Amino acid sequence: MSSTTTLILGLETSCDETAAAVVRRDADGRGTLFSNQVRSQVKDHAPFGGVVPEIAARAHVEHLDGLIARAMAEAGASFSDLSAVASTAGPGLLGGLLVGMMEGKAIALAHDLPFLAINHLEGHALTPRLLEPCAFPYLLLLISGGHTQFQSVEGIGQYKRLGTTIDDALGEAFDKVAKLLGLAYPGGPEVEKAARRGNPTRFDFPRPLKGRADCNFSFSGLKTAVRECVQGLGLLTERDIADVCASFETAIADCMADRLKRAFATFREMHDVDHPILVVAGGVAANRKLRATFEAECEKHGFTLRVPPFHLCTDNAAMIAWAGAERLALGLTDELDFAAKPRWPLDTISAPVYGSGRLGAKA
Ligand code: KG4
Ligand code: ZN
Repeated sequence: MSSTTTLILGLETSCDETAAAVVRRDADGRGTLFSNQVRSQVKDHAPFGGVVPEIAARAHVEHLDGLIARAMAEAGASFSDLSAVASTAGPGLLGGLLVGMMEGKAIALAHDLPFLAINHLEGHALTPRLLEPCAFPYLLLLISGGHTQFQSVEGIGQYKRLGTTIDDALGEAFDKVAKLLGLAYPGGPEVEKAARRGNPTRFDFPRPLKGRADCNFSFSGLKTAVRECVQGLGLLTERDIADVCASFETAIADCMADRLKRAFATFREMHDVDHPILVVAGGVAANRKLRATFEAECEKHGFTLRVPPFHLCTDNAAMIAWAGAERLALGLTDELDFAAKPRWPLDTISAPVYGSGRLGAKA
């Protein structure tokens, strides 16, 4: 372990958030977040109902410099104060990754600093350690627009995948259901809002993979069931929309409770930990019904739930800077010719499964 305090600039450009942040890591491993600038491109992509890679890359080029300047000013730091620069190197959209990596490498070269190429998923995985001590190993549930997976987080760069989606990501399922119902993009928050007024028992949607012995997820069958239901209803009333959303959310919550039970058991088989921790990250962690499910399941199975605040659950550069700080402390720096990796699973040993670090997916 490094015995020095370090200051890291992090850059995130893997999908539709352009972000720059500055964090400090003390010699004892504690973190401080000095600035966390994020510009969401949601409005740029909304007319298309999803992320358009070319628009995303152009927006990163346009805004990254300004965000870096603001992040540095807010931290009261100049480039000469930095210990290293960290950029997201994958997984994600190639155009965006190249923008953030070129910028990070240029700053590192110009100021003679180490460069750190960060796996975006490792950023999500290590975020709780920026906020408070969180000893390895812990169980991670990552639920975003592009990923849905359980990882056993065993150390920096040490991950074991317990399960992943075999088709759609959870956020993607929310977005697709929203689209079917004519709700705005991104769909997760819209579905949640409509669900609050709905009847969760009106439609009995399937619970894919419920009872299965592994820790995988599947959402495409559920999405198809929703589509068939919506087609059967014809012209949708407000009540129909609310009831579909509430019934869909309930089916998801049921699936998640079942999958969590499996993952808890698997994690306990792997590790003899007195006070096991479940960390949940990714945009879907904002969903209140799911959060209540995670709390209830943790309580039932003796796990402590850690969900970072929403702005650190969704894509940001603080997590990239922090993962950089943790890697730098171990001397894990990268060369300036490190190539972007649009596909980059956290656990490189497990067999690849569609839906795990897949090309072009949001992470
Ligand atoms: O982590 P995130 O901000 O971006 C990446 O995917 O990297 O996650 C975005 C996803 C979208 O699919 C969005 O619809 C979903 O998270 N989401 C939600 C909620 N808020 C965001 N899904 C369900 N309920 C929510 N309240
Ligand atoms: Zn992400």
